[in-house]
Amino acid sequence: MRIARLSVVGAGTMGNGIAHVAAERGASVKLIDLSGDLLERAVLTIGKNLDRQVKKGLLDGEARDAALDRIETTTDLESGVVDADVVIEAVPEKSELKRTIFTALDRAAHERTILASNTSSISITEIGGFTSRPDRVIGMHFMNPVPVMQLVEVIRGLATSDETAAAVVELSRDLGKTPVEVNDFPGFVSNRVLMPMINEAATAVMEGVAEPDAIDTVMKLGMNHPMGPLALADLIGLDTCLNILEVLHRELGDDRYRPSPLLRKYVAAGWLGRKSGRGFHRYP
Ligand SMILES: NC(=O)c1ccc[n+]([C@@H]2O[C@H](COP(=O)([O-])OP(=O)(O)OC[C@H]3O[C@@H](n4cnc5c(N)ncnc54)[C@H](O)[C@@H]3O)[C@@H](O)[C@H]2O)c1
Repeated sequence: MRIARLSVVGAGTMGNGIAHVAAERGASVKLIDLSGDLLERAVLTIGKNLDRQVKKGLLDGEARDAALDRIETTTDLESGVVDADVVIEAVPEKSELKRTIFTALDRAAHERTILASNTSSISITEIGGFTSRPDRVIGMHFMNPVPVMQLVEVIRGLATSDETAAAVVELSRDLGKTPVEVNDFPGFVSNRVLMPMINEAATAVMEGVAEPDAIDTVMKLGMNHPMGPLALADLIGLDTCLNILEVLHRELGDDRYRPSPLLRKYVAAGWLGRKSGRGFHRYP
């Protein structure tokens, strides 16, 4: 791995997956979150996911232990990024929070450090503008679950340099992923194409076209999708889906991205999908 020192800010669903893959591939990883409890939980999750790979024969026990040893945790952002080659931010999808984090990262990280965001929908050009180094700011959009999914959507902001893009494409390959370069438009490619399908499926439930199971089965068996759109929405998190649709609707100004009222209602009820035990489907 040419990029040896990686810091990951946010140890939630995506952050712990990114830390897992990077450590497994030989990088020294610093994982940063708000509390020791959150970090402990993240490391436990990584351990369990590594165990699953060992059980499947994809990894041996020694490699599992070595990967875990390469992960350090801290609640101190400054010391966590001071010697990083690349920082990958994976905090919740809120523009104000991204601003706070990127302002702090710009101050704390070495001037050569690349600052990448795993944002699903916030403009990389805007995030670059929160810093004094927009040429070294880029989107690295991993898919969930990170250890399993092949794609990294690499998003160039308006000011992202060729060197930064090349380094991040190489890093993605070193992580065993397939990078695809796209330009900075709301939702990039993945969510611009995916979210209208999820939204339409939610509207179909609302209008009584069919039950969620039926809609998912039509898309699985009829279109050869590995997972139906509503099961996928539950996996992503309905709050995340709603956030992304709001960004698409606002930034592109087209009503075809207007979030389904049923999606809003579920989020208001706390039905967020798998993580809350109920979304379009139930997860007892
Ligand atoms: N969940 C997905 O399927 C998915 C897929 C691709 C991209 N993303 C994007 O990845 C990012 C993270 O999403 P997630 O699903 O992992 O969220 P999450 O809520 O699971 O995790 C976010 C983590 O960030 C931590 N955090 C919050 N404020 C912080 C701060 N100031 N400093 C350090 N840590 C802080 C939280 O405590 C939490 O552990 C978002 O931008 C999201 O849009 C999510």
